Amino acid sequence: MFHSEIIGVGSYVPEKKVTNQELENIVDTSDQWITSRTGIAERRVSTGEKTSQIALKAAQRAIKKADIKTDEIDLIILATITPDFFTPSTASLVQADLGLKDVPSFDISAGCTGFIYGLQIADQFIKSGQSQCALVIGAEILSKVLDWNDRNTCVLFGDGAGAVVLKRSMRKGIVSTYSGSQGDLEGFLTIPAVSVKNPFFTDQSKTENRSYMFMNGKEIFKFATHIMLKSIQIILKDNRLTIHDIKYIVPHQANFRIIDNVAKKLKVPPEKFYKNMDHFGNTSAASIPLALDEMVEKKMIQNGDRMIMVGFGGGLTWGSILLNWTL
Ligand code: ACO
Repeated sequence: MFHSEIIGVGSYVPEKKVTNQELENIVDTSDQWITSRTGIAERRVSTGEKTSQIALKAAQRAIKKADIKTDEIDLIILATITPDFFTPSTASLVQADLGLKDVPSFDISAGCTGFIYGLQIADQFIKSGQSQCALVIGAEILSKVLDWNDRNTCVLFGDGAGAVVLKRSMRKGIVSTYSGSQGDLEGFLTIPAVSVKNPFFTDQSKTENRSYMFMNGKEIFKFATHIMLKSIQIILKDNRLTIHDIKYIVPHQANFRIIDNVAKKLKVPPEKFYKNMDHFGNTSAASIPLALDEMVEKKMIQNGDRMIMVGFGGGLTWGSILLNWTL
């Protein structure tokens, strides 16, 4: 039986910082409202970089830190809701730019839970013997799907990318995974793709022209608090552990109030949950690997530490991963 372990983490964010004060000039909002409701003070915004380009930079950093040769990678999974194209996949573009050949590469769309889903899939490829060394990336240029006149969404999100190298191992780095989705809640967070438009469809009144993100923040907030708690409790129960056996929780970075609410329900200090939305905002599928990379850079994680990564997002989707840090 094969296991998998993370051997390298990397991230990249665009240079351009946009503060809450700068947003006050664009929409009817205030620094006070944004920080008190979300914990976000600034975010990074692309000034032209594409999702595949920032994904490539995060991937190259992860490969360097893993100290492997690029051609050892035999699988690329890229989670995004903001691809460069419908086809080719963003993963294919990254594959080409890494100079890799004959390597299965594909995107997955699971909203902000995308990285969790991606790692779960890569773990299964490795466990089944189909892959020895996988690159899992979460990358988003959300700024291109935001309506910059809509204060309900444009203040919340940021651009960025994070990546891990996952390798076959005798050690159990990825201990356990859990995920789910509830499609009937799809309307709470949508980014429409292109509408049906052809010479045979004449009723254009049914055509959806909006291509920006819509979010029902209040409903997502309620859902997120419930599902993050459930995802942590399920993975703990599956592994006969308690929250006290866990050193850190690495949550999806949407809103500090969601996270603190979950910490309160688990009766643990909020510091057990790593937070960095203050400087990156919500970067969707990139948020968990971005947070993980920061923790590694800060040398917060020691060999043997048990951690849980947990996310929720559009779909609606959710998931958690129990991890033993082996570096
Ligand atoms: N600045 C100022 N006022 C604002 C802003 C803003 N940027 N945005 C909304 N408001 C107003 C609203 O219009 C409302 O005004 P009203 O009472 O006159 O109608 C008021 O502020 C209160 O709005 P609420 O929705 O009650 O504010 P709330 O405390 O719920 O916070 C927020 C809103 C931050 C969006 C919160 O609901 C939230 O974080 N929800 C979760 C969102 C989330 O996690 N999304 C990620 C999903 S993951 C993915 O897949 C991408």
